[in-house]
Amino acid sequence: METKPSRRLEGKVAIVVGVSDEGMGRSVALKFASEGAAVAVCSRTQSRIEKVAGEIRAMGGKAIAISADATVQGQVDQMVESTVKQLGSVDILFYNAGGAGAARGGPTEVKFSDWQATVNNNLIGAFLCTQAVLKKMMPQESGRIILTGSGSGVRPVAGDMSAYNVGNAGEIALAQSLAAATAHLGICVNVVCPGAVNSRDWTRRAIERFSSGVEGKPVDPGRFNQPEEIADVVLFLASYESRALTGAVINLYFRSDIRAYSVWRKAEPQYIERPATYKW
Ligand SMILES: NC(=O)c1ccc[n+]([C@@H]2O[C@H](COP(=O)([O-])OP(=O)(O)OC[C@H]3O[C@@H](n4cnc5c(N)ncnc54)[C@H](OP(=O)(O)O)[C@@H]3O)[C@@H](O)[C@H]2O)c1
Repeated sequence: METKPSRRLEGKVAIVVGVSDEGMGRSVALKFASEGAAVAVCSRTQSRIEKVAGEIRAMGGKAIAISADATVQGQVDQMVESTVKQLGSVDILFYNAGGAGAARGGPTEVKFSDWQATVNNNLIGAFLCTQAVLKKMMPQESGRIILTGSGSGVRPVAGDMSAYNVGNAGEIALAQSLAAATAHLGICVNVVCPGAVNSRDWTRRAIERFSSGVEGKPVDPGRFNQPEEIADVVLFLASYESRALTGAVINLYFRSDIRAYSVWRKAEPQYIERPATYKW
């Protein structure tokens, strides 16, 4: 029988790219650290990643903060090299950078530079970061890569979000391509696709808008996923327990999908009139 350490990521080194002082990046970084991983937290804003690294150290964990733009190859390569130098290896990548950004407007109005920036943050950054860590993971024949996509990459959001939809759909294709190329080495590459998550301000505003009503009836904000709930799924994908799973698209959006919500309201009102209770 195999013996496993009591903490699920003991001895592992994780890089979390796309971390603010709240949101999924922070929750995942804290979760990884609480399970024994040494964590490199990365985004472009030094003060915010320092704060999260400080939180990890305050709870007795090991963390470093490395500012880098995930869309710039030289900075990504340096971030990975610096992690290996300071923490010893890289076993796990959680790529969470991205978001809708400024790319708003219909097909003929959206500015090319905004469109490109959004695709870059969501997809090109994912390509650069996965390539850089795979150069370490493939020779060691182990690793876990988890990308944050979005429900919009599975089912495009209508209106002015084409760059965001494309970036997230591309992340799914990237994860599945890498999964096929690395499965024989025991490396797992999966993508989580959240719906609205109660994280940054813009998301909260959207949630408030949904909460003010669908078809004249209020929607309980408790229905939307919390960053910690996403982090629990990501922890599983980073752990030994997920070794059989690669190339998977994990849909975490259905509970918070407003379109599904309004359909459910008609079809199955008992499922949507209250937040989930998660009895176990
Ligand atoms: N929140 C939601 O409702 C929701 C729903 C579905 C999917 N998602 C996806 O989840 C991810 C964000 O999660 P979150 O909303 O919880 O945010 P978060 O963890 O609070 O932070 C994401 C951070 O990514 C960083 N980032 C953006 N572009 C970057 C780049 N080029 N290089 C390095 N860092 C970069 C930003 O920090 P800096 O500006 O400091 O670099 C940002 O604060 C995105 O991929 C988004 O598409 C979010």
